[in-house]
Amino acid sequence: MSDSSFRTVTIVGATGSVGYPITEAFLNDGSYIVKILRRKPDENEKAKILVSKGAEIVYANYDQKDDLVKALKGTDVIVSTIFDRVNFTSLYDLQAPLLAAAKEASVKRFIPSEFASGYKTVDHVMYEDKIKFREELERSGLEYTYIHTGLFQEFLGSFGFNVKNKKAKFYGDGNTRIPTTSLPDVGKYTVETLKIPEARNAHIRVTGSNLTLNEYLQKFEKASGSKWEVTEDRDVRYRFKNKIEPIPSFMDDYIAYETENSNFLDNDNDKFSFIPEPVTKVIETLVSQA
Ligand SMILES: NC(=O)c1ccc[n+]([C@@H]2O[C@H](COP(=O)([O-])OP(=O)(O)OC[C@H]3O[C@@H](n4cnc5c(N)ncnc54)[C@H](OP(=O)(O)O)[C@@H]3O)[C@@H](O)[C@H]2O)c1
Repeated sequence: MSDSSFRTVTIVGATGSVGYPITEAFLNDGSYIVKILRRKPDENEKAKILVSKGAEIVYANYDQKDDLVKALKGTDVIVSTIFDRVNFTSLYDLQAPLLAAAKEASVKRFIPSEFASGYKTVDHVMYEDKIKFREELERSGLEYTYIHTGLFQEFLGSFGFNVKNKKAKFYGDGNTRIPTTSLPDVGKYTVETLKIPEARNAHIRVTGSNLTLNEYLQKFEKASGSKWEVTEDRDVRYRFKNKIEPIPSFMDDYIAYETENSNFLDNDNDKFSFIPEPVTKVIETLVSQA
């Protein structure tokens, strides 16, 4: 089942919210040499834990191609989970130097920083850079896999479910279906894409749960033992685009876009060897931590 030509996997952005569980999943799998590529040595707790579990850290200056090529020598697969929350540098600009170096270092497969809803066409800036990078990646001749997971279940709070105040804000109709996957399962799916032939040069869509907003709400209410207050804001995108008061934030516009567009018509779950965790488990954890 496994592609034995993949021995060494380098995760870029391993200290991030999705990079960390993906790196953990590779370490737990045990079939690979796991490296994490970082920009600079600093006191990063997550990096320390990953090293204690068996990952090797490699540092490189991402602006220096030779440095990156050296850092990537011997890598068979790059998993990019990079994201710049400080300057919001485009994902194209962040990943293009990695791809150029990967090609020179004879990396075989590049898994880019996707891990969301996987649209092929978009009218939202968050996705434009991902799609521009896909075009560059496909021209490069490297193998690729685009992994689409829907929303991370651990991020339901940012999607309008305010556990602390027991309030939900829907950015669309309550009957809208939203695919979600837990972060540990995103990690496991990512590892297995290296072992299934269908993932070579393909879009892979996986989903832990595919419930409506109302159904997620019911689970939050059950876990917290009380009814929640619900509001709906259905014209966020229109107000954002036309600067109509109250003008929504960029993130509100993004969440409204996701609410309208993130439903997968089908998924590839049956190509994988495991059943994803139901969302109930993550919701119970979110409620217990609030
Ligand atoms: N489906 C969802 O619900 C969802 C939610 C959030 C994100 N995502 C997607 O998941 C992917 C990763 O996002 P994330 O939230 O995990 O990212 P993140 O936690 O913000 O950061 C990822 C890592 O990128 C590296 N990084 C940050 N700025 C950088 C820069 N300027 N240059 C190079 N490296 C930089 C850092 O690693 P080092 O410091 O170790 O170098 C950082 O830990 C993105 O494609 C994003 O769209 C999806």
